Amino acid sequence: MLIFATNNQNKVKEINSILNGVIEVKSLKESGIEIDIPEPHQTLEENAREKSKTIYNLTQTACFSEDTGLEIFLLNGEPGVKSARYADDENNYLNNIDKVLKKLAGISDRSAQFKTIISLLINNQEFQFEGICKGTITETEIGTNGFGYDPIFIPDGSSKTFAEMTIEEKNIFSHRKKAVAQLVQFLKNR
Ligand code: IMP
Repeated sequence: MLIFATNNQNKVKEINSILNGVIEVKSLKESGIEIDIPEPHQTLEENAREKSKTIYNLTQTACFSEDTGLEIFLLNGEPGVKSARYADDENNYLNNIDKVLKKLAGISDRSAQFKTIISLLINNQEFQFEGICKGTITETEIGTNGFGYDPIFIPDGSSKTFAEMTIEEKNIFSHRKKAVAQLVQFLKNR
């Protein structure tokens, strides 16, 4: 059993749909842990490590966390590690999307990528896995599924935004799916 160190129920849903029971995962909520995990660092890698270490130190149980950022090339990789709190101190999806669309107004190169870093902590040893999904930012929000920047991101190889897809469709393309696939492979090979 692995604890998934997140309070984001959207991520829990996605990870459960990807793992489909292959590995037993318990969210913080299901483990009875109530904690606001800090994300104080300047990189996804350090923040992911901070989250898994915090929960490992608390539980002494194998666990993993993930940190994800949307990187827009013409904005020098922004919002990147600041994706959750791009517009203000709140994790407000609508304000964050609004800020991205305003910054990209009139810009034709709208290429971007989502990057997920998973940090796994087992027996006090850390292992990281990366998943990248390349795509483009739309001009307006399209679709109501998913969370975060899903309504403005079309992955390469599709004509739909993530917010127009079911979780299963999103899993065909997603950064999170790619990182989790590596985690599963690693655990199988141990
Ligand atoms: P964090 O990994 O919890 O720090 O997430 C950062 C922010 O990135 C979230 O608040 C969401 O706004 C956004 N985000 C993370 N994963 C996704 C995704 O799969 N789709 C869209 N937005 C995402």
